[in-house]
Amino acid sequence: MPGAEPKQEQEQKDFAVATPFQQVPGFALKGCEGLDWGMKSRMSRIFNPKSGRTVMLAFDHGYIYGPTTGLERMDLTIPPLVPHVDCLMCTRGALRTCILPDCGKPVCLRSSSGSSILKDMSYELISVDIEDAIRLGASAITCQVYVGGEHEYETLRNLSYLINQGMKYGIPTLGVTAIGREMVRDSRYLGLATRLIAEVGAQFVKTYYCEKDFDEVVAGCPIPIVIAGGKKLPELDALKMAYNAISQGAMGVDMGRNVFCADDPIAMVQAVKAVVHNDEKPEKAFDLYQTLKNENKGKAKCKKG
Ligand code: R5P
Repeated sequence: MPGAEPKQEQEQKDFAVATPFQQVPGFALKGCEGLDWGMKSRMSRIFNPKSGRTVMLAFDHGYIYGPTTGLERMDLTIPPLVPHVDCLMCTRGALRTCILPDCGKPVCLRSSSGSSILKDMSYELISVDIEDAIRLGASAITCQVYVGGEHEYETLRNLSYLINQGMKYGIPTLGVTAIGREMVRDSRYLGLATRLIAEVGAQFVKTYYCEKDFDEVVAGCPIPIVIAGGKKLPELDALKMAYNAISQGAMGVDMGRNVFCADDPIAMVQAVKAVVHNDEKPEKAFDLYQTLKNENKGKAKCKKG
């Protein structure tokens, strides 16, 4: 134990008593002002504090679909994309086997499972203990909700459980609006699902973009919305979708297939990033995509000799 400070040192202390306490400024991220410090800190790892937005890479498909197209070899496909994204959304199995722990990227950990493509995909449980999420250093945890689906109750129970676990340790929960085949992806449905997830207590929500009145979905949801990419589109269309969502208030994307199934995934992720963080118009982002793609082709040719 250090001894008491010598009298001379005590007399030299400067408490700047004339200067008022420097209050920590408000937290800009939508709906996050009331969160605890740890939650805010983790949200700031996911959402770039400069732009307030995020490019998340979703590659958690395998827990339902197995080696789906584009993700046959996660160990080959994902690592080159990692430096270009703000956050990784994946299962603990993918993380522990294919991602370097020193990659420096926050992780939104898929914490549910219980169904496969062969059966009812909406019937899930929370399968990852919060202790394991903490052990992995997760910045967020996630599961999906089938609002209006046969297993609405179970999936909402999963979400509530996950949020309660996250609240104990300051880990934000991303609620995902999974949409059963019987549901229509319009603003009315997406508005209901996102609002419900926010009010249950998730800190951010992932949903799909809809062409009509997406701005109303955003306006009615008091937490940040990130959009899912959905099925693979031509690259320009995917960039248009990201641009439209961002310009109507989405705070990022959580894209999978539209990145890793692109002709050139590394070029695509950079084009998406330009849209999300720099408000680049889709056509310009597509030009960037093509330029990068050609450069990458050139490099590949050089390597082959
Ligand atoms: C949904 O619950 C999962 O996170 C999906 O694996 C993810 O949303 C798929 O991303 P994308 O639709 O962009 O391929």
